[in-house]
Amino acid sequence: MSPEAWAYVAGGAGRESTIDANRAAFEKWRIVPRVLRDVEKRDLSIELFGQKLLSPLLLCPIGVLGMVHRDADLAVAKAAAALRVPYIFSNQASVPMEDCAAAMGDAPRWFQLYWSRSNELVASFVKRAEAGGCSAIVLTLDTTMLGWRPRDLDLGSLPFMAGQGIAQYTSDPVFLRELGEENALGSTRSTPQPPLNLQTIATALEQKVNFPGGLIKNLRSGDPRAAVQRFMTTYSRPSLQWDDLKYLRQHTKLPILLKGVLHPDDAKLAVETGIDGLIVSNHGGRQIDGEIASLDALPAVAAAVNGKIPVLFDSGVRSGADVFKALALGATAVCLGRPYVYGLAVGGQRGVEAVIGNVLAEFDLTLGLSGCRSVPEIKATGLSQG
Ligand SMILES: Cc1cc2nc3c(=O)[nH]c(=O)nc-3n(C[C@H](O)[C@H](O)[C@H](O)COP(=O)(O)O)c2cc1C
Repeated sequence: MSPEAWAYVAGGAGRESTIDANRAAFEKWRIVPRVLRDVEKRDLSIELFGQKLLSPLLLCPIGVLGMVHRDADLAVAKAAAALRVPYIFSNQASVPMEDCAAAMGDAPRWFQLYWSRSNELVASFVKRAEAGGCSAIVLTLDTTMLGWRPRDLDLGSLPFMAGQGIAQYTSDPVFLRELGEENALGSTRSTPQPPLNLQTIATALEQKVNFPGGLIKNLRSGDPRAAVQRFMTTYSRPSLQWDDLKYLRQHTKLPILLKGVLHPDDAKLAVETGIDGLIVSNHGGRQIDGEIASLDALPAVAAAVNGKIPVLFDSGVRSGADVFKALALGATAVCLGRPYVYGLAVGGQRGVEAVIGNVLAEFDLTLGLSGCRSVPEIKATGLSQG
């Protein structure tokens, strides 16, 4: 990966103590296996929102994969489809969701949403996700503002400024219409041009490469810069509140999951609000330095929900044994993040397939060797601390 891509993917908030805490939390727990339980035949499948899944593993939504590999989200979509592991399309993808959906046949996929300042755009994203065969909407709540990420800051790198990771926007009819309206009013054109130096010229060129149509077509157009500016000013709405969720409910019949819930009281509020599922996550330690480890938050959230809705989990999962531990601590299913991005960087689609295959193979062995034949049996398996 380029230094910028590595900083963006591997980096986290502040001193990255939350990244460390995510791993330390897994290391705290040890599996206590049971013996003599006939584990020759094992079943990894689960049922989630009425769909049978081959295993309790999903792929996290990860943005800006175009930094990592030319095939970006498309390679991940194909790998996920080949192994029938659900892929959660990122709102910040490098490839429009329709292209990924088309590459996946009838394989399971979900869509992750960031709530922008335009409610109409939110509705449009959700409508496109439904049309593209997504079977759930994941609303990410922990990134109403981007975290303080020193590795990116040190390099002066923010991929979105170069027009990377905004493909869901530049392929959206509502976004393009709103951009056109703004241009007509002259509001973006009248913003001051950045000073002319090597860096600003390089950024402008990158914006033109990344905008649909490519460099030649966009050379004389102001649209790429205007699209980046519009994205930067509208991508998120920090004023979002519980009451706003009604709007989302009105615009989709799909199950809605909230991602980034770590407090048991928020979990209870989600259940009361009629939310269909949660993802316990601290965004891989990218948002708040010093935040609670995701695994440490899981048992209390699972207890608060008390089986009423599925509780998914991510942040720090690096192996099949980690998947097992998260399930034993109350997760219904587990999402894999950075590891598949590293597989993508090394080997494109095949690299992602290798990572998923390895994690699942180790999970299957851990399950059997711990004396379990199926995922529900994991819940009853003891973990000990230390
Ligand atoms: C490079 C990168 C980009 C990400 N982009 C998104 C995103 O667009 N939407 C989202 O909800 N989460 C995003 N996440 C967070 C992941 O969905 C997930 O919560 C996190 O990767 C879990 O931590 P782990 O990868 O260390 O296990 C991103 C994470 C990384 C590493």
